[in-house]
Amino acid sequence: MRGIQPVFASANRTGPVALAAAGPRLIAIGGGKGGVGKTFVTTNVALTLARMGHRVVAVDADLDGANLHTCFGVPSPEVSLADFVAGRVSEPEKLLVQTREPNLQIIAGTHSNLNQPQPGQTRRVELLRGLRRLPADFVLIDLGAGSQPAVLDYFLVADEGLLVMRPEPTSVENAYSFLRAAFYRRLRLAARGHGVRELVDQAMDQRNERGIRTPYDLMREIEAVDPVEGRRFIQTMRAFRPRIVVNEARTAADIKLGFAVVSVCEKFFGFKADYLGYVNYQDEARESVAARKPLCDYMAESEAATYLSRISNKLAEGRVDGSMHPGMSR
Ligand SMILES: Nc1ncnc2c1ncn2[C@@H]1O[C@H](COP(=O)(O)OP(=O)(O)OP(=O)(O)O)[C@@H](O)[C@H]1O
Ligand SMILES: [Mg+2]
Repeated sequence: MRGIQPVFASANRTGPVALAAAGPRLIAIGGGKGGVGKTFVTTNVALTLARMGHRVVAVDADLDGANLHTCFGVPSPEVSLADFVAGRVSEPEKLLVQTREPNLQIIAGTHSNLNQPQPGQTRRVELLRGLRRLPADFVLIDLGAGSQPAVLDYFLVADEGLLVMRPEPTSVENAYSFLRAAFYRRLRLAARGHGVRELVDQAMDQRNERGIRTPYDLMREIEAVDPVEGRRFIQTMRAFRPRIVVNEARTAADIKLGFAVVSVCEKFFGFKADYLGYVNYQDEARESVAARKPLCDYMAESEAATYLSRISNKLAEGRVDGSMHPGMSR
């Protein structure tokens, strides 16, 4: 648990691409639920950023279901993240595979070892350090489904965490579980004192006997035990700022979902989220996967490609103002 903390020191950075001198901006794309469009968003945003002139690396961290390379039309690469997990390759830079797009490289997730598909915590920290050394402006990390620590840590350590959700109850439910799990893990990793960590552990059990139901309850308990830790705790709460993308939107209500999620996060969880934008449902999205091309390449003029471009622009500009998201003026 402790090993990951030094990596957090550089986390939550936001800002324009001028940061390239300080290493690439790490953006993790998660969602809790499977099939909501994490890989779809990753591939299209990666391509759009590359076409804007940024050097981009897309990483497939979904070692159980690696398919990022397929979406870019890259035949199963000889080297992959699995070689790093197994210790056969020590530098992520050696895993880079060029795509058809000049500025865009990938690190594939193929050939995983079924005995141990995910890297252990120490290896994960080494990987994240290696990713920060890559010669790129943006590193996009495509996460697998679920809220297990291996997934959450990428989301937490990245400079920005994008949460992709579909406007359906199961996806919304899993998105909340994911955000809650990520938030508490972040708090736990930041807690210094043993007593405070114990309080966070108790709060993670929703039915804990202490009656801690929300992060605000937890904050009050921590302040009572250790006021200095209480102040640090508040800073940690403020630094957690996930960005929401609603994918496969079909109705006005779907589009508004992002705002509802932002207000629920603030009211019940105690952290701010930003609504980065939505992407409409587009029939050709599936065709683009079959054609092994990101939609923004396969059908650049489609409505969904336009929204994906707007999301990419916002990311490139490093805006975290929570302002009106693209397309709401329609
Ligand atoms: N906006 C969209 N409109 C229509 N279809 C879409 C859209 N976004 C994604 N899809 C389709 O949904 C399917 C699942 O998308 P994707 O593989 O990106 O999900 P995922 O969240 O990465 O899933 P997994 O958890 O399995 O990795 C794909 O076949 C894709 O074409
Ligand atoms: Mg995927």
